[in-house]
Formats: sequence, structure tokens, C-alpha cells
Amino acid sequence: MEKSNNKRTVLITGATGGLGTAMCKELHKDGYRVVGNYHTKEKADKWMEMMKGEGFDIKLFYGDVSDFESAGEMIKNIEQEVGTIDTLVNNAGITRDGRLAKMKKEDWYDVVNTNLNSVFNCTRQVVDGMIERNFGRIINISSVNGQRGQFGQTNYSAAKAGMHGFTKSLAMEVAKYGITVNTISPGYIATDMVMAVPEKVLTQIIAQVPMGRLGGTHEVAHLVSFLASEETSFITGANYSINGGQHVY
Ligand code: CAA
Repeated sequence: MEKSNNKRTVLITGATGGLGTAMCKELHKDGYRVVGNYHTKEKADKWMEMMKGEGFDIKLFYGDVSDFESAGEMIKNIEQEVGTIDTLVNNAGITRDGRLAKMKKEDWYDVVNTNLNSVFNCTRQVVDGMIERNFGRIINISSVNGQRGQFGQTNYSAAKAGMHGFTKSLAMEVAKYGITVNTISPGYIATDMVMAVPEKVLTQIIAQVPMGRLGGTHEVAHLVSFLASEETSFITGANYSINGGQHVY
């Protein structure tokens, strides 16, 4: 049953991934007008079909968020076809795990471009409109591994830690325009990305989680919906941990 508390438009990047899909469903149920971003056409077609089958009518727009021009083109298309963007969820992300001593140059640049430079590419091109309209919500999906580091993830941890630096600085710059900027740092959530971690390693990681399990995508999606709401207008520059107690500080 769709709630009708809000008809603001939310753009979720990386919408076809595990977390992105859950966010699309949750925010749609909570009454937001949701649009998603995709990168791979084949995956997007299957996703649309699956979502329609479950009763979710959510438009997807192509954009390579690691590229400034491509992100700008996507945002222009969304504004023309759907309307202005009130909430941006910077969720697109990839992993290229490996020890630094073995890491290829591309593994560094691909991760930093997709996970961190994308945040600049998208936010820079929606923030002027948010300032004009005196309302905005920017939600950056970081990671516990940006907070604490992870063996085999120098690239990913650097990018994810960088996201929160961006959050804190932008939060100060745009607070006076009614725009909030926050980070969410999920721990190990049951997505394809996490399931790609070698089983033995994943078992060791879960053993470090006091809750003794992986997180559910809906648990993160619920937090995104909360931060997108009108009522969170005094929360900004914050970093929300959602990791089952794996990293407390
Ligand atoms: N601490 C200390 N040593 C470790 C280690 C750890 N956590 N993990 C591996 N090592 C050691 C091994 O014991 C081994 O040492 P010896 O050679 O002395 O025996 C050495 O590192 C093996 O390293 P290799 O370079 O040969 O690499 P590998 O093929 O074994 O793989 C790895 C290493 C890629 C880091 C692999 O262990 C791995 O995938 N780890 C998981 C990384 C991870 O958690 N990624 C998260 C992905 S999901 C995500 O990112 C979402 C999110 O936000 C949470």
C-alpha cells in the first residue's frame, strides 16, 4: 500500500544493484516519485520487467556517473521527463579488491571514479537547483570499510572515506538553503557484491559482527527513506553506521 506523504522526486544512482533496488522499492512505497540510474542496458531491461511484475513502476535513466558529461546528460533528461530532483542518493559503487602490492592502476582509478568522483559529478549538477528551491536531501552511501579500513580494499576504503569528507564540507556550505547532506555507512549487507567475497573470508567477517549475520537491504533502504523525509531537516553532516555492531566507536 503506497503512502502519500510525499511526492518529491528522488534519484537513486546504481538503482539496479542490491541496495539500489531495495531503496527504489522502499521509497516508492513511502510515496516518493522514484527514478533510478543504470549503466548496463541488459541488466536494466531485466530489472524493469522484474519491478513491473512486483507492481513498481519506476523509470530508469542511463548514465555513466563516473563521467561528468554523462551524469549531466542523465540529470538533464530526468529534469525534462520527470521534473526537478529533490533528493539525490549517491549509491553507485564497485569493488576491485586486492592487496595494494598487486593492485593494477585501473583497479584504483575505476573504483575512485565510480565510487567517489561520481559523487561530485552528480551532486555538482543538481545542487544549483536545490539551492534555488531552498530544499534538498543528498545521501551518500559509503561503507563500514571507509570508516575502519579493510585488508584488500585500499581503493574502496579511500573512496568511501572520501565520500564522508565531501558530506561534511558540503553540509556546511548548503545548510542555509534547507539542504541536508548525510552519509550512510552500511556494513556487510546481503548483496551480490558481498556474496562475491570468498566464502571463507566472509565467514570470518560475519564472525566479527555482534548481530551474527549479514544486514538486509531493506534495513539500509529504510534509513535512506528516513533521511529523505521533510522531518529530518536538522540532521546534516552526519554519518549513520548500519553494521550490526561490527564497528563501534
Ligand atoms: N588480514 C590479514 N591477512 C590477510 C587478510 C586479513 N584480513 N586477508 C588475507 N590475508 C593474507 C592471507 O593470509 C595471505 O597471507 P600469506 O600469503 O602470508 O598466507 C595473503 O593475505 C593473501 O593475499 P593475496 O594477495 O594472495 O590475495 P588473495 O587472493 O588471498 O585475496 C583478498 C586477498 C582479495 C583481500 C581477499 O582476501 C578478499 O577478497 N578479501 C575480502 C575483502 C572484502 O572484505 N571486501 C569487501 C567486499 S563487499 C564491500 O565492499 C561492501 C561493503 O561496503 C562492506
